Amino acid sequence: MKILCVAGARPNFMKIAPIMEAFHAHPDIDPLLVHTGQHYDERMSNLFFRELGIPEPDVNLEVGSASHAVQTAEIMKAFEPVCLQHRPDYVLVVGDVNSTIACGLVAAKLGIKLIHVEAGLRSGDRTMPEEINRLLTDSISDLLFCTEPSGVENLRREGISNGKVHLVGNVMIDTLLKNRAKAEQSTVLEDMGLVPRGYATMTLHRPSNVDTPAALGAILDAVDTIQRDLPIVFPIHPRTCKNVEALGFQARVETMAGLRLVDPLGYLDFLKLNANARFVLTDSGGLQEETTILRVPCITIRENTERPVTCQVGSNQLVGTSTEAILAAYDRIQNGQFDQAGIPDLWDGQAATRIAAVLATPVEHATVDRRQETGDRDR
Ligand code: UD1
Repeated sequence: MKILCVAGARPNFMKIAPIMEAFHAHPDIDPLLVHTGQHYDERMSNLFFRELGIPEPDVNLEVGSASHAVQTAEIMKAFEPVCLQHRPDYVLVVGDVNSTIACGLVAAKLGIKLIHVEAGLRSGDRTMPEEINRLLTDSISDLLFCTEPSGVENLRREGISNGKVHLVGNVMIDTLLKNRAKAEQSTVLEDMGLVPRGYATMTLHRPSNVDTPAALGAILDAVDTIQRDLPIVFPIHPRTCKNVEALGFQARVETMAGLRLVDPLGYLDFLKLNANARFVLTDSGGLQEETTILRVPCITIRENTERPVTCQVGSNQLVGTSTEAILAAYDRIQNGQFDQAGIPDLWDGQAATRIAAVLATPVEHATVDRRQETGDRDR
């Protein structure tokens, strides 16, 4: 069974790592890795391949940054010949970035069966580019692997047949559990003069939070207050870095002595930092999940989350984007309200193995015929 596995942007790399490992170990699966090049900086891409032991990509499309339409189109144009050359049985895409939908669409148009890992997540917010990517990718996938029960329920509500959907757990958590001990060897705390629980970490990159002065300013007001009590380590995403400067916040940020701006970090240093943080402030999807496993309280600076299980088990607070709400969440953490949380079912390090097992089982999923589903209209 030949499977073209796709990764393109930073959050894809920790998802594809355990999948490649499980596929390579499986006698019936022949995986090939395609990197779209959506992320390309050393610290946004290569470092993750090295640290996570991801094999060199078999193909790199080297697409790079552009507007959504151009980036998606360029990935499609470059990926189609790869599919035609390799003629895989499946294309596998992960997550919700532009590479996910671009390669998914190419596969569907060529009649190659599509697998989506991390299917069914919904924020309900169609202004998020990721939500559009998720909805569209799921609607054309033949096999959908979910991380949490809400994903299964969302797909059922959207009319996707039960037989295509499998709740397998979370491949990102496979990577975290596998690398936890290795990350403990990192000297990042000593290097930065930090002590366990004596600091917070922060990531911010959502366009809705960092692309306008009003949104970024409100968040920085809260950050300003918190960093007076507790240092905040802020590995800054390239998009945010550009906007801090362009929107006129550079001088303000430089006055905050407790805000420690650093370049994007590698996986192991960042895992060590998060595991030992008092809490995490973020607008990332993946970090809401990682803090859940690490049992570190998380303040999610967004109006919605596609990962509700992280709030249900008690580690994540979804607070919105106002200064007051962020500070209220900070107070609740300082009062110890978020120190006890549970772990979602199946987030046990075995998700990729379950995916390989489903694929290698000769059942109906392998014979889903798109024409039967769409009736006669495309014959
Ligand atoms: C993308 C994903 C987002 C994910 C995020 C993680 C989409 C729609 N968005 O957003 O879901 O959470 O990755 O990082 O796919 N840049 C660099 N170096 C790089 C990559 C990007 O400098 O290696 C800069 C470029 O100026 C680029 C900007 O960052 O224009 C944004 O990159 P892009 O891939 O378009 O989106 P992200 O904001 O990273």
